Amino acid sequence: MKEFSNDIDKILFTEQQLYKRVKELAEEINNYYKGEPIIAVFVLKGSAFFASDLIRWLNMHVSMEFMSVSSYGQETISSGKLTIKKDIDSDVRGKRVLIIEDIIDTGITLSTLKREFEKRGAEDIKVVTMLSKPSRRMVDFQADFTGFEVPDVFVVGYGLDYADKYRNLPYIASLKKHVYEKKD
Ligand code: IMP
Ligand code: MG
Repeated sequence: MKEFSNDIDKILFTEQQLYKRVKELAEEINNYYKGEPIIAVFVLKGSAFFASDLIRWLNMHVSMEFMSVSSYGQETISSGKLTIKKDIDSDVRGKRVLIIEDIIDTGITLSTLKREFEKRGAEDIKVVTMLSKPSRRMVDFQADFTGFEVPDVFVVGYGLDYADKYRNLPYIASLKKHVYEKKD
């Protein structure tokens, strides 16, 4: 049997720390919306656990929407091109949209995604991210609500993946070097 616990370098945020921070974020978000209904956009797949944990603490009506996007390479900074692999089902015109992301790295994905919702005529667009790596930004982008800032290390768990693995870890951790160096 191949256990993946051997691949974990350091646990950065435990289950308990995540639970506590998610509740605090929900409180900030509740204070902002003051009971007004929102559309919560889960940015798949990474934000799935975070988003579902977060929205259960929100005290307004929340409709759930799922979206899967990618933005490739540096050329997207100028072109602002967003590839939508799976789109949401509802019309956001005149609505309040809360985009829920796992991690903001270069900032390219979120800045283009936010622009997309502006184009679609959303009345208010806010972004909440579980993690942010400020030192990696290539475009000027800041989330409205941020769980934790992390240094420039590759992290996995609680939805975050490396090659589509490790998403199901209950904590967030960095990976050992050998994981990147081996092939399978
Ligand atoms: P960016 O902000 O456009 O560079 O893209 C952020 C996306 O890259 C996230 O939604 C993740 O899917 C992925 N990503 C960036 N850093 C990490 C990491 O440390 N672990 C796992 N995924 C990451
Ligand atoms: Mg992502």
